[in-house]
Amino acid sequence: MNAVLHTSAPPAPIRRERIGTWRERLWLPNAREVLMRPIEAVDAEPLRRSFARLSPEEVRLRFLHPITEMTAGFARQLCELDRQTGFALVVTEPLPAGEALIGAVARLAIGPEHRDAEFAIIVGREIGGLGLGIFLMKRLIDYARRRRLDVLWGDVREENSAMLAVCDELGFKRSHHPDELGIVRVSKRLRSA
Ligand SMILES: CC(C)(COP(=O)(O)OP(=O)(O)OC[C@H]1O[C@@H](n2cnc3c(N)ncnc32)[C@H](O)[C@@H]1OP(=O)(O)O)[C@@H](O)C(=O)NCCC(=O)NCCS
Repeated sequence: MNAVLHTSAPPAPIRRERIGTWRERLWLPNAREVLMRPIEAVDAEPLRRSFARLSPEEVRLRFLHPITEMTAGFARQLCELDRQTGFALVVTEPLPAGEALIGAVARLAIGPEHRDAEFAIIVGREIGGLGLGIFLMKRLIDYARRRRLDVLWGDVREENSAMLAVCDELGFKRSHHPDELGIVRVSKRLRSA
């Protein structure tokens, strides 16, 4: 994947073709073709390989704490979701699942009372700054609305200007994290009161 630097100019829109439920063929502003689809169990090994390509900073921003290795067990846990409580989309090379490298993952975890969900997202720097962060977050919002959840929320490091820009653009409100310094809690109400 070619490295793409972030510039202040807004990227051209992502072109897309729907090919199934939560499945879309995407053409990024640099004309690169990728596939967005729900995560599958066979993604566990590619996910480990893709994790190894991330910078320590990307990992720290995504997981909020440094993680040095993605074990096989953790990768399985991230890929084998209980559909009642979890949902995750990946952006991959346009190859069959299991073969394709994973460039981005956006997920949500539904809370125990099925009222809210926590999101987490990572777009690898090789396809960063091209609009995928906003694109994937919009898909998570759509999914959460269809599940009739009230709130989508997430924790973001306060220095994470890219993610805070994504959240601002999508109408998330910021608040202090209840317990952790340096973390901003962002939340978006999905249904009117
Ligand atoms: C945050 C992240 C998801 C953004 O993904 P992306 O695909 O690069 O984002 P987009 O291209 O959709 O850009 C979205 C907005 O962020 C801004 N942005 C992108 N990269 C930026 C950067 N390095 N610094 C400041 N703003 C940036 C864009 O200008 C855009 O804002 P705009 O619509 O007002 O112009 C990605 O950088 C990432 O995965 N970072 C590491 C993991 C992480 O931080 N996860 C979030 C914690 S849950």
